[in-house]
Amino acid sequence: MQPTSRWRTLRKVCATKVFSSQQLDSTQVVRRRKVKELMDFVKKTSETFDVLDISEAIFTTVLNSISNTLFSMDVVQLGCSSKSQEFKDIFCGITEEAGKPNVVDYFPIFAKIDPQGARARMTKYYKKMIDFLDGIVEERLRLIKGLQMGDTTKEYKDVLDYVLEVMLEDNSQVTRIHVLHLLVDLFVAGIDTTASTIEWAMTELLYNPKKLQKLKNELQDVIGKEEKQIEESHISKLPFLRAVVKETFRLHPPFPLIPHKSKEDVELCGFNVPKNAQVLINIWGVGRDPSIWRNPNEFVPERFLESKIDYQGNDCELIPFSAGRRMCPGLPLAYRGVHTVLGSLLHCYDWKLVNNGEKEKGLDMFDEKFGLSLHKAKPLQAIPIYNNHNN
Ligand code: HEM
Repeated sequence: MQPTSRWRTLRKVCATKVFSSQQLDSTQVVRRRKVKELMDFVKKTSETFDVLDISEAIFTTVLNSISNTLFSMDVVQLGCSSKSQEFKDIFCGITEEAGKPNVVDYFPIFAKIDPQGARARMTKYYKKMIDFLDGIVEERLRLIKGLQMGDTTKEYKDVLDYVLEVMLEDNSQVTRIHVLHLLVDLFVAGIDTTASTIEWAMTELLYNPKKLQKLKNELQDVIGKEEKQIEESHISKLPFLRAVVKETFRLHPPFPLIPHKSKEDVELCGFNVPKNAQVLINIWGVGRDPSIWRNPNEFVPERFLESKIDYQGNDCELIPFSAGRRMCPGLPLAYRGVHTVLGSLLHCYDWKLVNNGEKEKGLDMFDEKFGLSLHKAKPLQAIPIYNNHNN
């Protein structure tokens, strides 16, 4: 199959078998469980007044939410040192490599000799990840072959079940290698982006107490005092939470530069863009453009309360998920994950910043660092203080 038609087939699988509302609704139960585990972990930390590495906790929750949505399995454990965990090591290896400058990007003629060894290292990490996922696929195929799928032990079908169903159809265009690459792409594209968005939103709010209070009031009004966890069904009732997320995407798009390639010679704003030229769309720049946004460097979620601007790919002012044919297929899952984790972390807890959020080792909380996506240079850490609304 040609690469383009393979890409089209996999995009279709994503739209129908991975990210459709029906599919995501049916796997909601596992994501709810992951957020509950996060809340239990925060509760335990609050009881001992320890500092919580929020960055690490969010990352693990997002990673396990995605792995459970895909194939019903945790790949890391909350609260364990990341260094000891194989999958996390592989994943972090990929994101670190992706963030390093590579001379080959500027001088493609050196691609074959791979002067910095970047391709070799990346290939090694990808192979490890493919091997890891292949073990999971093998086990699931054995389960399907043993006709155990109809057993009552599974409360829902996950993404892997649906994708393997497509693979096992007669004359299927989807092969086992496609399935493995699809899983790798979903992991690599989905985790860092979602986790760093939640972490940035939380950082902005902890440094903007008035906005934080406004959000907490909304959560309390809509969710009530008793309920501790934000459900996916709550999101549509929380306009300020949604505005906070939009404002976070405007200021901190995980992919600040989106690379595309021109299919033909075109003239754009007086510039000639030749066929096959790489074009980098500067989303970060658009988000901070003073001709589009008033006070562009300030965190003002209210600007989205009265505005219809959204990130579904129709408003060029805000395209963190890009737009058009290549637009991020994972938006519906990211939407659910970002709002529920962020809302849940803030609803029942006040957060005390370590050293009152002062600069440490020359880094402040808003410094950025490039990995696979643009994330915080300094992980967010704070002490959770249980907020009993009834007191
Ligand atoms: C805050 C969260 C996320 C943001 C901001 C984001 C953003 C993006 C962007 C900008 C692209 C490139 C689009 C282009 O080339 O025009 C992309 C591609 C992609 N994203 Fe996301 N993404 C997020 C979450 C996710 C999640 C949760 C998944 C899946 C679990 C995912 C899966 C993908 C895949 C598979 C691609 C490649 C699509 C293709 O090549 O056709 N993303 N994403």
